[in-house]
Amino acid sequence: MASGMPDSDRRLLVVRGLEAGYSSFRVLSGVDLEVRTGEAVAVIGPNGAGKTTLLRAISKLVEPTAGEVWLDGQPLAGLPAHRLPELGIAHVPENRRLFPRLTVEENLLMGAFPKSARSQWRERLAFVYGLFPRLRERRHQAAGTLSGGEQQMCAIGRGLMSGPRLLMLDEPSAGLAPVIVQQLFALVRRIADEGYTVLIVEQNIQQVLRIVDRAYLLETGRIRAAGPAHQLLASEDLRKAYIGL
Ligand SMILES: Nc1ncnc2c1ncn2[C@@H]1O[C@H](COP(=O)(O)OP(=O)(O)OP(=O)(O)O)[C@@H](O)[C@H]1O
Ligand SMILES: [Mg+2]
Repeated sequence: MASGMPDSDRRLLVVRGLEAGYSSFRVLSGVDLEVRTGEAVAVIGPNGAGKTTLLRAISKLVEPTAGEVWLDGQPLAGLPAHRLPELGIAHVPENRRLFPRLTVEENLLMGAFPKSARSQWRERLAFVYGLFPRLRERRHQAAGTLSGGEQQMCAIGRGLMSGPRLLMLDEPSAGLAPVIVQQLFALVRRIADEGYTVLIVEQNIQQVLRIVDRAYLLETGRIRAAGPAHQLLASEDLRKAYIGL
């Protein structure tokens, strides 16, 4: 185990004092967060709070300026972004980032690219199609012609193709109709029930809190509240500020 990492075997992801931003503009100011193996954890917060930046800093798409991140005891400092899929981090970015001209299946297979994942692509593809039968039906269709909800399923499916130890989802509900959002969250819950560890970032606070185990509230780059999802859901302050009930 790396020196200085708080010891507990079940902590898959540990983030301590993380700071990150863009040139001189600091977005994250000392974020602490943990995800245990098997948990589904949400980071909720308003537009511009730094949720995307947090996921990008964990997966090294922006270089943290301070703080530390460990995955299963291994410090991620100094590792380039392209090494992280091999280590077991799958990051499904905001706006999905599919290859629009490639088929659904070709996009999914891209997710099995890490060396550690290549030998198991058949089983994983079957798993993803089992989870999202719609993708199987449309496997030869260009990803760019899928509906928004289908594209999101394809992006999540691609993330699952590496058999990740940590699946990070950045606002999967963005831009989707309410009924599709509900279905999508039910699928995210199912993925967690299948044993995947999930870190999901969402603005759709009330709904995401119904499907995760724990959550952190991020506001202007700082964690303002944290706890079991049902507790946050019941919090008067949170309801007043964000849920509007
Ligand atoms: N590439 C960039 N260059 C400069 N500033 C950026 C860049 N990306 C994001 N920012 C700024 O960083 C802050 C946090 O952005 P971030 O995307 O992390 O927020 P967010 O919580 O994900 O918001 P949203 O819910 O709207 O996706 C914002 O003020 C944003 O304008
Ligand atoms: Mg964002």
